[in-house]
Amino acid sequence: MKGVILAGGLGTRLYPLTHVTNKHLLPVFNKPMIFYPIETLVKAGVTEIMIITSGPHVGDFLGTLKNGQELGCTHLEYAYQEKPDGGIADALAIAEDFADGDNLAVILGDNTTDADISKPIANFKDGAVIFLKKVTDPKRFGVAVFDPKDKTKIARIDEKPDKPASDYAVTGLYIYDNKVFDYIRMCDPNYIGRNQLEITQVNNFYIEDKALGWEELKSFWSDAGTFESLYRSNEYWAKKELKK
Ligand code: DAU
Repeated sequence: MKGVILAGGLGTRLYPLTHVTNKHLLPVFNKPMIFYPIETLVKAGVTEIMIITSGPHVGDFLGTLKNGQELGCTHLEYAYQEKPDGGIADALAIAEDFADGDNLAVILGDNTTDADISKPIANFKDGAVIFLKKVTDPKRFGVAVFDPKDKTKIARIDEKPDKPASDYAVTGLYIYDNKVFDYIRMCDPNYIGRNQLEITQVNNFYIEDKALGWEELKSFWSDAGTFESLYRSNEYWAKKELKK
């Protein structure tokens, strides 16, 4: 299994902070944000990692992460997303050569969690696995719609629905087999009308193929793409670190 961290996008919701550097290098308590997804992968035994980024501050990554050895990476590679807001699936498409047929653990660069995902990674065979988290504001996320006949199955994922069918957000942690790249090629940029290739459409292709499993994250998880969620992430990690 190889790892991919998606750190593209323009971070416009965090202007003026993201005029200074890339969103994923902003501090979350005592570390740059991107250290957290790297640590989650390394803790789960995934040490060959590609970081996909874009925008005006891409050079800042190299100076911050270098070859990733200090964080436990055995191989760290960088790639550039030409269309900075082409969508999460557009960014992931760039990792096809790096994957070279292998399975991928993918984490969005603004997601931090203290969940241990080593078991689902070790047990993964094929298809896809997504990680859900119960939230109070599901409208901001991809939301799992459970099969009314079998509540253990996800029937569909709705991206940022006006009327969420459940409180379970689809987090930005995913495990995919190599079919993911064929599904990305099938994506429609107008899927939800924001001219992006949506990871939710990719996950819905896996559901149609009866190949999507899921796990619930019981420990802390948050994105950090808005001032409120960035503050919440800082608060959580600061309290945890200062308690040590
Ligand atoms: O955080 C989880 C949520 O992330 C999921 O529940 C949603 O299903 C998923 O669509 C996504 O929602 P957002 O709209 O909040 O994603 P955002 O545009 O903020 O992008 C999240 C990260 O993905 C960002 O930190 C970097 C990466 N990204 C995003 C875009 C649009 C890229 O690498 N390239 C891109 O073009």
